[in-house]
Amino acid sequence: MSEKLLKFENVYYTYPGGQKPALNGLNFSITATKKIALLGQNGSGKSTLLFLADGLYKPQKGQISWARERLKYDRYSLNQWRQKIGLSFQDPEQQLVAGTVAEDIAYGLYNLKLSQAEIKQRLGQILAEFGLQDLADQPLHHLSLGQKRRVALAGVMARQPELLLLDEPTAYLDSVQTGNLLEELERIHAAGTTLLIATHDINFAYQWADWILILHEGKMVMSGEAQDIFSQRSSLAELHLDVPILWEVWQVLVSSLSLPNTMHFPKTIRQLEEQLQQIAG
Ligand SMILES: Nc1ncnc2c1ncn2[C@@H]1O[C@H](COP(=O)(O)OP(=O)(O)O)[C@@H](O)[C@H]1O
Ligand SMILES: [Mg+2]
Repeated sequence: MSEKLLKFENVYYTYPGGQKPALNGLNFSITATKKIALLGQNGSGKSTLLFLADGLYKPQKGQISWARERLKYDRYSLNQWRQKIGLSFQDPEQQLVAGTVAEDIAYGLYNLKLSQAEIKQRLGQILAEFGLQDLADQPLHHLSLGQKRRVALAGVMARQPELLLLDEPTAYLDSVQTGNLLEELERIHAAGTTLLIATHDINFAYQWADWILILHEGKMVMSGEAQDIFSQRSSLAELHLDVPILWEVWQVLVSSLSLPNTMHFPKTIRQLEEQLQQIAG
């Protein structure tokens, strides 16, 4: 049994002046070491869930806990909480606060009670890890969107969280930038951080995640491994969600070529190619 980290129990949240709850009796938990995709249509409550997980908003009802310890909302507790959980906002502009790249990353370290020498050491290390040394003294407003994202992510990772939450991290990135981001996330995951990515991109979730959560109207309606989720086509249709292209192609191939269902379903074009070569060979 893997360790449970973050847990939401019967959580309700309605925005001030909101007509209906954005989170409507939400239950789920997150297991350590996984790569989790949080899927759902626009407006299903993904960003709200992340804001509550980071303690930015407080639920009107229900509770949020970490390894059975309940989230409290005083400054000290929130600071402790945010050392375990890091949140990368959809819009890096909302996250970046200081003048230059190095100042911004260092800013997040000041309330960790580190010595000046430790801050300097950790800053140098994180700049190197994220390939930001050359940009260290650049003003943030000189950076491209992809660079701003990288700086914002470096700032979150400088605090060494156990769980990293990312809100639509691939939005507005081109394919090269997305590839770079994925490499960074692989490195972060390999170093032991659990990842949760909120996205409405089904194809991305299918390729990347080893666990999928589906949010609908503020409730968790499905959770499981990709093959278990995407084989429930009619449930997905009711939720107005598509199935991934590659999954669809694979289903067509399996049925039209009468392939044995013991074969592994491919998650990437490369894997599809390998499977087909195996069949042909
Ligand atoms: N600042 C806000 N004020 C009022 N309602 C909001 C606010 N932000 C989001 N909502 C509402 O909360 C619901 C969930 O939104 P959100 O968490 O942003 O969903 P998602 O990230 O899945 O697109 C939606 O109905 C949205 O309109
Ligand atoms: Mg959102």
